[in-house]
Amino acid sequence: MCVCVSDFEERARKVLPKAVYDYYRSGADEQRTLHDNVEAFSRWCLVPRVLRDVSSVDMSLSVLGQKLSMPVCVASTAMQRMAHPTGRWPQPEVQYLLGHLHHRRGGRGRRGPGGVLWMQLYIYKDRELSLSLVRRAEQAGYQAIFLTVDTPYLGRRWDDVRNRFKLPSHLSMSNFSAPSLSFSEDSYGEDSGLSVYVSKAIDPSLSWEDVLWLKAHTQLPVILKGILTEDARQAVDCGVDGILVSNHGARQLDGVPATLDVLSEVVQAVAGRCDVYLDGGVRKGTDVLKALALGAKAVFIGRPVLWGLACQVMNHTLHHQQMACRVNGVRGEAC
Ligand SMILES: Cc1cc2nc3c(=O)[nH]c(=O)nc-3n(C[C@H](O)[C@H](O)[C@H](O)COP(=O)(O)O)c2cc1C
Repeated sequence: MCVCVSDFEERARKVLPKAVYDYYRSGADEQRTLHDNVEAFSRWCLVPRVLRDVSSVDMSLSVLGQKLSMPVCVASTAMQRMAHPTGRWPQPEVQYLLGHLHHRRGGRGRRGPGGVLWMQLYIYKDRELSLSLVRRAEQAGYQAIFLTVDTPYLGRRWDDVRNRFKLPSHLSMSNFSAPSLSFSEDSYGEDSGLSVYVSKAIDPSLSWEDVLWLKAHTQLPVILKGILTEDARQAVDCGVDGILVSNHGARQLDGVPATLDVLSEVVQAVAGRCDVYLDGGVRKGTDVLKALALGAKAVFIGRPVLWGLACQVMNHTLHHQQMACRVNGVRGEAC
């Protein structure tokens, strides 16, 4: 029986092909920040007050003009369909940040009652391509753009390099049709396929000017994802509508602080001028409480959802066996 996130992770590890599990689990380099993101939550204690009537608790709140059922949202994680045939959580009320390194085309979103549609964006060397994604998101009814600012180059994830990770042949990046950006090709040399893809596509020259450029090209709220410092002040000066304190689930720069440890500094820098959210290492309800107590308005979770998706697949043996045959020949325990 699965009672906590690590139980789900263990089950997912057993059913996913090794290269897929490694891709989801890994952090950059020695993975110090990966472990610290989780451990930071045990360094902070809850100091409970008693005799407050808690017989009825309403966790709903308003974020970016949308009513959420609880202050927990799903972070954007690329390539969810390696875990589950649809790559989406079945419950419509889940509040989702849809990444665009996703297999589903950013067409009409699947918003359910209480659900929201937010889009995570990278800015590409090809600015027209970036703008076309923004336009598509606007037309499809998305309500906010989370611009990821911590990925000028892809972090070095050792297992992905060892596995020469690449997208299974039957999946594609539906948001991109340009052949120069195709992901599932065979010319990756010794590197991970995703790393080659990112260096071809994503613009490492991104600067504060580009944040202003994006703001000038869309009416949608823009939230910066990947801020860990007083950069937050400059972000607010650029007119952003929110900050997501994130180190990309420790997949980018190893050795940066755990997100929980820098949350207060960011909250102080922002001084109430926009919302602050947090992701990285959130694994339990009490983790959510700690982040809220330190000033986050809501949190996002990444890997726990991937483990849940992998365990959701009813016919997971067949799905994951198919995946194992297509992921670079590296097999998981299911095969
Ligand atoms: C497999 C995987 C893929 C991810 N892909 C993206 C992505 O395409 N864009 C992005 O901004 N963040 C991406 N992230 C980072 C998540 O949005 C989020 O910041 C992180 O997973 C939160 O940490 P947690 O996994 O410890 O909850 C990815 C994370 C994982 C685990």
